Amino acid sequence: MSGAYPIELLRQSLIARIVSAEDLPELPETAFRIMQLTQNPNADPDRVARAILSSPTLSARVLRYVNSPFYGLLREVTSIHQAVVILGLDTIRDLVVGLSMVDLFLSQRPVRFNQRRFNDLALQAAVVSSLMAPQVDLAPEEAFIAGLLHDIGTLLLGRYHPEILQQILDAKRETGEPIVEIEQRFTGLDHTVIGHWLASQWDLPNVFRVAIRHHHEPGLQHTDDPDSARMVRVVILADRIVRLFRRHEPTDMEHVSRMWVEFFDGRVHDLEAVLTAFPRRLASASDALEAPLEPVVEYEAVRLSLSS
Ligand SMILES: [Fe+2]
Repeated sequence: MSGAYPIELLRQSLIARIVSAEDLPELPETAFRIMQLTQNPNADPDRVARAILSSPTLSARVLRYVNSPFYGLLREVTSIHQAVVILGLDTIRDLVVGLSMVDLFLSQRPVRFNQRRFNDLALQAAVVSSLMAPQVDLAPEEAFIAGLLHDIGTLLLGRYHPEILQQILDAKRETGEPIVEIEQRFTGLDHTVIGHWLASQWDLPNVFRVAIRHHHEPGLQHTDDPDSARMVRVVILADRIVRLFRRHEPTDMEHVSRMWVEFFDGRVHDLEAVLTAFPRRLASASDALEAPLEPVVEYEAVRLSLSS
């Protein structure tokens, strides 16, 4: 099972590392500051702009991103002050946090598990989530973060115990059991719990904590807050859509279609629009984020291989 690590020891060591913030990835200073400032709905936009400008790299990233075809603003934004005024405090906060997270993922030192692959899948989930968001009355920038972070617990497990994560992934491949059950068996924890701790350590808003904690529980009512409840569902569905584009399995397509209707009372036409737009949006996200992402095949190709 977990080799040299008795489960209880492993569980305690993971908890201790996260609680003591030992070797945790740090939420970048500027993102943290912007989250604090924007907690006050009457925050001074000038202060927010100045806080972003304190990081020249991040400022350049924000401007590049909001002026990219991926973001699709109709007018050019030439300064951070202008970006704050045009986009509003909530959106600029989500952008800064999202871009900081992308940088954090891309800068993780390679560990033995496949970091590159993990980043690709996380960014795919982020792009699909942001595409679905407007159809279910959520902010795309917020859904992007939720999609990006939902499996962050796996990143931590891979960072602390790559050999155990590898055993878990091997067991998943061999048995097809739900990943959280395998993780529980090997570590006494699972990536939703680990990710939730990290999100709490980072003081992330509740909507992200809920999405991270419950994205493997499609049948449950997770929260009384309707926005967070919809966000969990967006992330669950995004996870399935990413899997559909990776595996081209008819069962994934069935799950995706059924969830879309059950979760959101959604029309098939709208789901098709999301699936069709995904590969192109991913390519333009790759550009906007200056992140070399592995492209995915066109939806037409997925459909063809499903029907063959
Ligand atoms: Fe997950």
